[in-house]
Amino acid sequence: MKHHLLACIFMVTMATTSTAAPSGISYNEDKTPKLDLPDPLKGVQDAKSWPARRTEIFAMIEDQMFGKAPEFDKKSMKVTRKIPDRIFLSGKAVLSQPALHFAGCNVQLMIVRPADTREPVPAFLAYNFRGNHTVHQDPAIALASGWVPRTKGNKASEDHRGQSSPRWDIQKIIEKGYALVTVYCGDVDPDFHDHFKNGVHAKYGKPDAGQWGTIAAWSWGLSRILDYLEDEPAIDAKRVAVMGHSRLGKTSLWAGASDTRFALVISNNSGCGGAALSKRRFGETVHRINSSFPHWFCDNFKKYNNKEDILPFDQHMLLALVAPRPLYVASAEKDQWADPRGEFLAAKGADPVYRILGTEGLPADSMPAVNKPVHGRIGYHIRSGKHDVTSYDWKQYLAFADKHLKKKGQ
Ligand code: GCU
Repeated sequence: MKHHLLACIFMVTMATTSTAAPSGISYNEDKTPKLDLPDPLKGVQDAKSWPARRTEIFAMIEDQMFGKAPEFDKKSMKVTRKIPDRIFLSGKAVLSQPALHFAGCNVQLMIVRPADTREPVPAFLAYNFRGNHTVHQDPAIALASGWVPRTKGNKASEDHRGQSSPRWDIQKIIEKGYALVTVYCGDVDPDFHDHFKNGVHAKYGKPDAGQWGTIAAWSWGLSRILDYLEDEPAIDAKRVAVMGHSRLGKTSLWAGASDTRFALVISNNSGCGGAALSKRRFGETVHRINSSFPHWFCDNFKKYNNKEDILPFDQHMLLALVAPRPLYVASAEKDQWADPRGEFLAAKGADPVYRILGTEGLPADSMPAVNKPVHGRIGYHIRSGKHDVTSYDWKQYLAFADKHLKKKGQ
């Protein structure tokens, strides 16, 4: 009996500590402010009047949050192919590794495509956090060459080969007829605050308060990769889904908003500054993200530290910028930091824009139960488990891509 009681106390303590919020952060739904979200459809009566409102929303989010990225002349990009193509996944796929050189950066691509087709295939384009060599254990994959976080001496090493492979369901992607294009985000801009001296920022000088932070730089880099993919015969560049996890999910959303060539946009657990509504102040807040990662957004965004109520937009308007293209927002039950409910509510807040544009939007009146995905023109799921990318997530993305990208020219 005594043992049983002790065990119960222990379990209760564990449950409380595992969901305990860091200081200054709330995981309490009852403490979220009453939501008063700006209307994405302000002044819009029909599909025809949306483009003007879209331009206005884009300009606001660009100027106040991510920052302005420079124009780019595609002709200034050089491509080298020092690494020969190889058979991959026991003959099921081909691995190619061209390198792109632009804006002073060397960006090493890893492209895995099905071996059994000569037709251009649709693709998932997604950054990785610590080098292409972490995505799969195959020794033919080039080691990242620049600064890499959380490694000895900030250098890539063989020890990390395949380390993040559980996050990449390459086998399934290939079996379903898609290619995977992945790139280390640090090739475009290393993820630390150096006052705009490294990565693509180095070439463009010191920014003013409205100029691009690292997330905008990464998003811009994804567009440069898409520039290249338009000339890559193995890939159908009109059917590229841009996908990202966490900070890279914030990035895929901004890439999808800034560049309408992306045919489908996926945010995996992107949280604050991504799919989660800032005005809820649940989990990570604007102040917290701007303090921990001062280089991610433009300086204007710091005005909203602890003042989310004066933000003239919220993240549902970022999501609405993807409309009418298919958009997927995914949350994880234990990822309170990223505010799963705030991610769902933002997707729901973008729904009226999708509907006025004549699409199905997000066919869910309330937040779906855990592991019960909803796939409309907007897809949403909350899966069991923690902040991560799992094969469950990929299964949904592949089904969603099958629904929306299967036919050519969509
Ligand atoms: C931190 C950060 C999040 C971010 C995450 C990640 O937790 O606070 O905003 O999404 O890192 O990128 O892994």
